[in-house]
Amino acid sequence: MSTAHPDVTPPDFAAPESGARLLETAWRFHRGDIPMPQLRGHRVSYEATKAGGAIGAAAAVYDDGDWPLVDLPHDWAAASVPDPAENIAQGYRARGIAWYRRGFRLEESLRGRYLELQFGAIATKATVWFNGIEMAHSFSGYSAITLDLTANAYFGEALNSLAVRVDAEQAEGWWYEGAGPYRHVWLVDRAPVHIVTDGVHADPRQNADGAWHVPVEVTLYSIEERAAQVRVVAQLLDEHDAVVAQGAVLVEVPVLERTCANLTLENFTPQLWSPDSPRLYKVRTCVERDGACIDERVTPCGFRTLRFDPARGLLLNGGEVKLKGVCVHEGHAGVGVAVPDALIWWRVLRLKAMGCNALRCAHNAPSPALLDACDRLGLMVMDENRLFNVSPDYIAQLEWLVRRDRNHPSVILWSVFNEEPMEGTANGYEMVRRAAAAVKALDDSRPVTAAMSGGLFAPVNVSQAVDVVGFNYHQGDYDAFHRAHPDWPITSSEDTSAFMVRGEWFTDEKAHIKSSDDTEHALWGNSHRGAWQEIATRPFVAGSFVWTGFDYYGEPTPYTWPTKSSLFGSMDLCGFPKAAFYIHQAQWLDRPVLKILPHWNWSVGRRIKVLVATRLDRVVLTLNGAVVADGPVDPYQMFEAEVDFVPGQLEAAGYAQGRLVATDRVETIGAPVRLRLSADRTALRGDGADAVPCRIEALDAKGRVVPSADAMVALVVAGAQLIGVGNGDPNAGFSGKESQVPLFNGLGQAIIQTERGAKGQATLMARASGLAPARLDFAVEPASVPTVAPGPLRLMIQGWRQSPIVASKPERPARLADNDMNSWDNVRAGTPPPFSGASGYQTLVAQVQVPASVTRTGGLLVLQTVNGAGTLWVNGEARAEKSYVEAGGLHTAIAPGQTRLDIALILRVLPDQRTGLPGLVFLESEAP
Ligand code: GAL
Repeated sequence: MSTAHPDVTPPDFAAPESGARLLETAWRFHRGDIPMPQLRGHRVSYEATKAGGAIGAAAAVYDDGDWPLVDLPHDWAAASVPDPAENIAQGYRARGIAWYRRGFRLEESLRGRYLELQFGAIATKATVWFNGIEMAHSFSGYSAITLDLTANAYFGEALNSLAVRVDAEQAEGWWYEGAGPYRHVWLVDRAPVHIVTDGVHADPRQNADGAWHVPVEVTLYSIEERAAQVRVVAQLLDEHDAVVAQGAVLVEVPVLERTCANLTLENFTPQLWSPDSPRLYKVRTCVERDGACIDERVTPCGFRTLRFDPARGLLLNGGEVKLKGVCVHEGHAGVGVAVPDALIWWRVLRLKAMGCNALRCAHNAPSPALLDACDRLGLMVMDENRLFNVSPDYIAQLEWLVRRDRNHPSVILWSVFNEEPMEGTANGYEMVRRAAAAVKALDDSRPVTAAMSGGLFAPVNVSQAVDVVGFNYHQGDYDAFHRAHPDWPITSSEDTSAFMVRGEWFTDEKAHIKSSDDTEHALWGNSHRGAWQEIATRPFVAGSFVWTGFDYYGEPTPYTWPTKSSLFGSMDLCGFPKAAFYIHQAQWLDRPVLKILPHWNWSVGRRIKVLVATRLDRVVLTLNGAVVADGPVDPYQMFEAEVDFVPGQLEAAGYAQGRLVATDRVETIGAPVRLRLSADRTALRGDGADAVPCRIEALDAKGRVVPSADAMVALVVAGAQLIGVGNGDPNAGFSGKESQVPLFNGLGQAIIQTERGAKGQATLMARASGLAPARLDFAVEPASVPTVAPGPLRLMIQGWRQSPIVASKPERPARLADNDMNSWDNVRAGTPPPFSGASGYQTLVAQVQVPASVTRTGGLLVLQTVNGAGTLWVNGEARAEKSYVEAGGLHTAIAPGQTRLDIALILRVLPDQRTGLPGLVFLESEAP
């Protein structure tokens, strides 16, 4: 039975807007904290408080040359080997604190443009400095950090610097959250008059007469010095990019202030969006000035009606649709939470293959790539807020979530919390009222829910403040609650919490193994079959959100060390199906499903409880041709039979109304003789982002997959990179960054990612002792995404001070008293000096901590351009002379062993000359 969705190729990885470039390659990374230097002294204290004056590793200029280079998205915790001393909730992975730094240049042509840096998210708390200015503190590891760099940017040859301190000692979840900037980082440049980030709200509405229109609100901003007149044009594009509706409005954009343009798209008849037929439109919004489009944004748009009915559950486009959902955390084997977009796409396809029509982002704002995949492939999303807190900084996070995600047709519910101790109290009620109001102010088209795990019957509780009451577990309360509130829509927001280890059929508590026969579940949960039965048999419960779609690192309930990941998934950490996957297929897919579980490799005589996942009405089971069971199928509990194992073939025939509809077979497999590699697709894009999970199996002499294979498989990749390995074993002890992986119950996974700029062929090769090797070739097509190149490896010297002009030539450089902040000017090297109008002599001074590489091997102090004649002094010694007045460079060698330089330049000042440092000053290591 094929479970593959036709759409195996993810959409092109593209910039979110034109003018956006990835800022992800070659970041300097330091694991561990770098405490801020202690301030001692008048001048350093004064200067450290000034714009641009950040100190230590946050400073604009800092010696990070010895830090290793990493590419983002990055999750450093994913590289650590689990350690029992670390937090069980985080999968026993060390997290801690780290620093990232990146230099980059901005072309002169960008001067005057609006520049914005966008971090998709950083786990968990981050502080960001740009050019020595502390620009952002994050409040959640799941929210974007968006920084307007415009006022603080340098152009041309000057280097801009970013420093990020990431504190992943802090946690926001009881599951594995990763550590570091694990989502995309974009540098965006826009016209001075432009649409702000998340600034288009296209809000499809159906009129009473059935016709549709789309009110579009566009938020604009201008950094110009005078109000600007622009025309905002919005077009509705269908799947083929044909314009089906258009609107325009003139608007005046004030100075340094946001303003909204509102228009409406109408007179069109859309195809509706649904999980079965996810017809997706786009709204293209242009800001036009003098007839030219100066800024453009494309936002997803879909047409569907949505109503949660207290008696009938969800009505989508007027018809009852039961939510067949799963809860999902973001991590994946081998890559932690830095999941490539293409792998997110693959995971959504796996959920579709299981029969899902819904997904809950547990318990946080998802990656934008996830919502994009849900829009295109058709999953209805419960989009969930992370921290339940209605103080301004946290309401801002909730508002950010709604603004970012409200155009996605896939999003059908906003969840303001998951399981909060205050849910059954007046405080909780008051908080939810406020959170819901914040949501509604930005989007009143979707209901608000909260995932409650109790308090449902308290006199004052959160259910009174939401549109749809979310039940986490508590399935025994559905009826009583419905009786008490027959007019309140309810849905399960979380259910099941059943345990399975993929490929295992017998629980072994000592080995931390749970059977996959769907009998094991948490006290508060239910089996996969039982939980669905409670929901499917109650039309007033809108649907199910199974805990969970996939296993995830952390929360290894009911075990502790050495179990590192959850057992709750319908699929394992790699997305390999467990028995639950087939059970859900049988429950949820419209086509007939018949799947025999488990495999048929056991010891002779062992009594096996065979489970046939099906909703056909009768199953006949034969073993080596003899009927061993024949009977009706319970539509929820399905079909079970006890069979004493003998090797051979176990076959199931499924009947509906007396007609044979489907068959399935398992058979006893021989010893492994060779490896096999496979992937859903073998054409990849060489954009450095495309990635594909490859399946590793061992086959017997007849080419059949060996379900018990456990070979250690060594992997080699050429023409691409191996970014993670896994096997779905919750008890495995490796990090996932190794280049080998043991098969677990017959399966292993290697995730490969293309290199930026790659083209031609990539190959994955697998070897294991005693087995014939395997290889898998990929065709890599050239593809690129614009990126920001890293800055050159130089230590810029800034923070120059310039003495007053004196009449006679000083013998030595003038000295600036430590307590004198006022008599010398601040000078930035690389900016044109003014005419002084006077004549005499002037001293310019700067100090610098010598980079370790220069201390080791020596280096070169370079003054690119000096205007005026003068002498360069270093550490009290005259080192170089410039005898001519015109612009010219100066340099001097720095011997090994130096750790600090006191640099001074005594310049002759002439009234009609610009004297000073129009060029940059930097230290270069002599090593290449
Ligand atoms: C719920 C919770 C989930 C997960 C689950 C395990 O209470 O919302 O995050 O912890 O239990 O059963």
